[in-house]
Amino acid sequence: MKGYTREMRTPFIAGNWKMHKTIGEAVALANELVQAFGSVQDTTIMIAPPFTALSAVAPIISGTTIALGAQNMASELSGAHTGEVSALMLRDIGVSHVILGHSERRHVYGESNELINKKVKLALEQGLTAILCVGETEQEREQGITNKVVGEQCEKGLAGVSSEQMKKIVIAYEPVWAIGTGKTATPEDADATHEVIRKLAASLYSREVADKLVIQYGGSVKPDNVKELMAKENIDGALVGGASLTAAQFVPIVNF
Ligand code: PGA
Repeated sequence: MKGYTREMRTPFIAGNWKMHKTIGEAVALANELVQAFGSVQDTTIMIAPPFTALSAVAPIISGTTIALGAQNMASELSGAHTGEVSALMLRDIGVSHVILGHSERRHVYGESNELINKKVKLALEQGLTAILCVGETEQEREQGITNKVVGEQCEKGLAGVSSEQMKKIVIAYEPVWAIGTGKTATPEDADATHEVIRKLAASLYSREVADKLVIQYGGSVKPDNVKELMAKENIDGALVGGASLTAAQFVPIVNF
């Protein structure tokens, strides 16, 4: 975006393992990733194994530059919430980042902007970095309301978040129609939506917040398309699903 300072943002590549990998498989992949880039300095790297593998992966990546992420968390800190996982429990294991509002949470499990906002605020209060996922469906794109939908998801997801807290917010723009489908937004289209998000951050907060805001792209990111996506001025990283499940694919993505 014209005049905005890309140098203020460190590239951030994250792997979302979704509901894949037993503990043994997760440990094996984590070990491979540590070998490959445990000391990479110029890129933030995060992996989000399933909840059941977090405590096994934590000691493997501890002391490396790979951060531990969770794929979701409860909107409450404790209590009678059968099946939920609290931010306190995540911190206890060594989790530093949490993915919130992923499209599978929104569209398959019915999470609303309001619920996601509650989670975002709780994550920040607990000192976690929140990756807030936003993105339009195919139908919304065809209706020409991408910017409206994404803008609303950002605005409602960030309600009550202070400028200071924005330092621990990452936005992941993931067009729903591109997730797990092999279809990627063109780098130009993705960059245009990222620019809309950055301008919104400037108007909701300040130019400085917008300059520093890391905006990842997600949706069928692969070794062969990551470079052209990352070349765009407003694309600061990637949230990778399918291609984060093997070192053979994830390592070249991180080394874009
Ligand atoms: P994908 O998933 O890379 O498999 O499309 C991305 C995501 O859902 O975060």
